[in-house]
Formats: sequence, C-alpha cells, structure tokens
Amino acid sequence: MNLILFGPPGAGKGTQGALLARHFDIPRISTGDLLRDAVRAGSGLGREARRYMDAGELVPDAVILGLVRETLGGESAQRGFILDGFPRNVAQAEALNGILRFLHRQLDAVAVLDVADELVIKRIAGRRSCPACGAVYNVHFEPPQTPGRCDACGGELVQRGDDREETVQRRLEVYRAQTEPVLAFYGREGVPIRHVDGSRSVEDVQAQLVSALET
Ligand code: AP5
Repeated sequence: MNLILFGPPGAGKGTQGALLARHFDIPRISTGDLLRDAVRAGSGLGREARRYMDAGELVPDAVILGLVRETLGGESAQRGFILDGFPRNVAQAEALNGILRFLHRQLDAVAVLDVADELVIKRIAGRRSCPACGAVYNVHFEPPQTPGRCDACGGELVQRGDDREETVQRRLEVYRAQTEPVLAFYGREGVPIRHVDGSRSVEDVQAQLVSALET
C-alpha cells in the first residue's frame, strides 16, 4: 500500500496514520515529524525550518524534498508507505511523481480526512504531545490518564509551538491556498481519491479508512 493521507491541520492525519501503519504494517512518513526532529536536534536544517513552522508557512520545497527522497528510498519504505503532511503543494506532488518513477513505485490512493475548520481549531487547541516518545493526546477528546503526563512513558506533555491560535489560522489559509489544489492534481492523474468523515471518533474514522482502502 502506497498511500497519501491528506487533510487540513488537526484533521487527525498523525493519529490515523499511526493506526493505519500498524494495520498495514508499513511506515508512516510524516514530514512534520521529520522537521520537528531536526528542530529538536538543533541542526542547520532544523533552525531554518523552525522560522517557517512557527509562522505557519510551508518550509521551502528543496528542504522537504531532500528529506522525503531519502526516507522513501530507505529500507523500511520498500513494503509500502503512508505519507502524512506531504505533498503540500502541486510542485511537491510533481516532484513526488519523479521520485516514485525513479523508484519504480506508484501511488495506490489518496485518503482525505474531511473536517470543518471549527473542529480542527478545537482539536489543535487541545492537542498535547510527548516529546520523549511522540504520543499525542487531546485534553478535550483523548485525555491522558494523569493530566500533563504521557500514559506510555510518563514524560511531560507539551503544546506544539505552532499550535497558537494566530498560527493555526495562517496554517488553515495556507492549506486552502496551496495544499487543497493537490487533490485536483491527483484527480487529473487518475489516482483514486477516498474521502472519509474525519469528524467522527478516532475508532470510527479508522474503520472508514480501512474499509475505503481495502475495497
Ligand atoms: P504537520 O506536522 O504536518 O502539521 P499539520 O498538517 O498542520 O497537521 P497536524 O500535525 O497539526 O495535525 P494532524 O492532522 O496530524 O492531526 P493529529 O492526529 O495530531 O506540519 C507542521 C508544519 O511543518 C507545517 O505548518 C509546515 O510549516 C511544516 N511542514 C510539514 N510538512 C511540510 C511539507 N510537506 N512542506 C512544507 N512544509 C511542511 O490530531 C490533532 C488533535 O486532535 C490531537 O490532539 C488528536 O489527539 C486529536 N484527534 C485526532 N483525531 C481525533 C478524533 N477523531 N476525534 C477527536 N480528537 C481527535
């Protein structure tokens, strides 16, 4: 299964991507996570990326494409992959076509999580994540057993730097202007596009996705 998981910020791509990765036993490749790793590591790439991420803007394509090329060409992506947060504009989608052609691979589907803006804003405001193990919670919808502590490893939960309200508004604008047109691109390319209602519970959304992707 070579899949793109698509949807606005806070739609649940990371949450569903992790579950689908387990279900299909293939890696989830999140460009947001790769960038946050680089920011935490304090690398030059991380320092450059952070300026864009904190402003809610897209990180330049050249940076992202280097990361994706390396990850897709790696051993673990040979059985398949779930791309989360990439491609985010038509230029990235065109570049992905080139990478996949080079690797003799092709996309099986684009799965779209449809969620209204008001709900994604609420989900993002309530998101807390564990920097130690990467687990993600939500104070409104998926709270940890002990407030502020990770159920999995006991680490202290934090709010992402780009989850401030004004940055979220900008991320949504960027999604509408630059990322949504990617769907029309894949429509023209003939890649199957599967829409699911992302506003339901985590379990419901997962069941819809599995059923849409297995048929
Ligand atoms: P990225 O990390 O990709 O962020 P995003 O696309 O904005 O998506 P999010 O991570 O905010 O949300 P999500 O859809 O994964 O939702 P989640 O599962 O966490 O990108 C961050 C930044 O990096 C970008 O702004 C950009 O600067 C840069 N970047 C990344 N990729 C790039 C690229 N390709 N090109 C250029 N720049 C790039 O869920 C959200 C919350 O809701 C959680 O708290 C979760 O617990 C909760 N939740 C999830 N599902 C449900 C549900 N069904 N019911 C109730 N709560 C739920």
